[in-house]
Amino acid sequence: MQTPQDKKRNLFIKSYGCQMNEYDSERMVEILEKHNYSSVDEPNQADLIILNTCHIREKAAEKIYSELGRLKKINLNSERNTKVAVAGCVGQAEGQEIIKRSPIVDLVFGPLTYHQLPEMLDEIETRPGQPNKKLVNIDIPEEDKFLQLKGSRKNLKSISSLLSVQEGCDKFCSFCVVPYTRGVEISRPAKQILNEAQELIDIGAKEIILLGQNVNAWSQSNGKDTDMTFAQLINEISELNIERIRYITSHPRDMTEELMRAHRDIEKLQPYLHLPVQSGSDKILKEMNRNYSSQEYIDIIDKAREYKQDIAISGDFIVGFPGETDDDFEATLDIVKRVKYAHAYSFKYSPRPGTPAALKDHQIDEEIKSERLKTLQDLIRQQTRDFNSSFLEKEINVLIEKQGLGVNRLTGRSSYLQSVHMDGDPSFIGEIVKAKIIKTRDNSLEGIIL
Ligand code: SAH
Ligand code: SF4
Ligand code: F3S
Repeated sequence: MQTPQDKKRNLFIKSYGCQMNEYDSERMVEILEKHNYSSVDEPNQADLIILNTCHIREKAAEKIYSELGRLKKINLNSERNTKVAVAGCVGQAEGQEIIKRSPIVDLVFGPLTYHQLPEMLDEIETRPGQPNKKLVNIDIPEEDKFLQLKGSRKNLKSISSLLSVQEGCDKFCSFCVVPYTRGVEISRPAKQILNEAQELIDIGAKEIILLGQNVNAWSQSNGKDTDMTFAQLINEISELNIERIRYITSHPRDMTEELMRAHRDIEKLQPYLHLPVQSGSDKILKEMNRNYSSQEYIDIIDKAREYKQDIAISGDFIVGFPGETDDDFEATLDIVKRVKYAHAYSFKYSPRPGTPAALKDHQIDEEIKSERLKTLQDLIRQQTRDFNSSFLEKEINVLIEKQGLGVNRLTGRSSYLQSVHMDGDPSFIGEIVKAKIIKTRDNSLEGIIL
């Protein structure tokens, strides 16, 4: 007998926030493909709409409500009886509140329960003669979702593929919602990761990006102590038939010398380190509960450069954290000048419900935050420009990922994660080519294939 779930249906899924959400969205698509859902590009063709959301800053979270407003307006085809689901970190953080604010939502769940999607959909299935049912599923499950994930990685072909190896966070920085939305820190078992890496390689991955909120805290323990470190895991992956390995995001506290050495010793591990410092002021770092000083951070960067002289450093910054004075902000500019970033993200501090920093006195005026953000971003932009300019006339390896805009245009990435555009035949996609850089821009390079 056909269950309601086996009918052919259309799925529209949209991902917000970090790459871990992108990874989760890919897994949701895989789970649902097994239940006869096919992806569509337009929400008005969908039987199921999933918004996979981000709660990191207020703007990110509020975006979801505007999107829900838009969805309400577009003609949700009543014959289809389209179901709307809010997944991800806003789902986890706001739960029932979402349905109250936006009654078009039928289902709310978080990053830790999406493996239960088939059962959840079955529960909200519209049945003749019964009222529509809504469901909020944000209880933290006992079982680890990775052990339960059913779909395989066969259908999502990607030259550069994401692979979550670590989830959750125990660090509780005073500004951050992640420990509340993603739960406690867990590391996936090495065997599971290696199997998944092999699956990705089998369908054409040339690069694997290992993901985690604190990816370098990954370790496999045998109950008493560590029996595999993150650097060892990378080494094992490098023995597979893969060209490039990256990892993101690392925490300075977990940056071991062994991992820095791995950048020297493992050729496939790319010379790029995303290591957010957040602030250059020791007072603010303490208030943020980051557990390192600005000098300790600088020492890590220096050491990483000793092992791998050309390693590109990237980072994240928050300006306008409560109590941040002009001097504290100057200290942030100083650390940026000292480190010289290849690239960095920076944000205005956004008070988040339930986090300790939101309750602190001396919240900073929006205007000051905006001024500081602009000053910092101007400095970072100049550094990125200088970094990119240093590649002019150089010959570098580029992994071609996809077609670019225009006829016979290609787009790829350098080892340092810069976008590189060039002319060339689509048959180069998936290849690593040698390219000469003939022009540099703020955010990309232009090359010719040699
Ligand atoms: N685990 C990573 C960061 C994950 S969140 C780390 O510890 O570095 C990504 C970035 O969002 C953070 O690095 C921080 O710069 C920013 N962020 C997090 N919470 C924020 C908040 N409340 N306001 C503004 N930016 C925030
Ligand atoms: Fe958030 Fe801090 Fe954990 Fe990063 S380390 S996810 S900033 S709590
Ligand atoms: Fe956002 Fe959740 Fe990622 S809050 S940044 S989607 S972990």
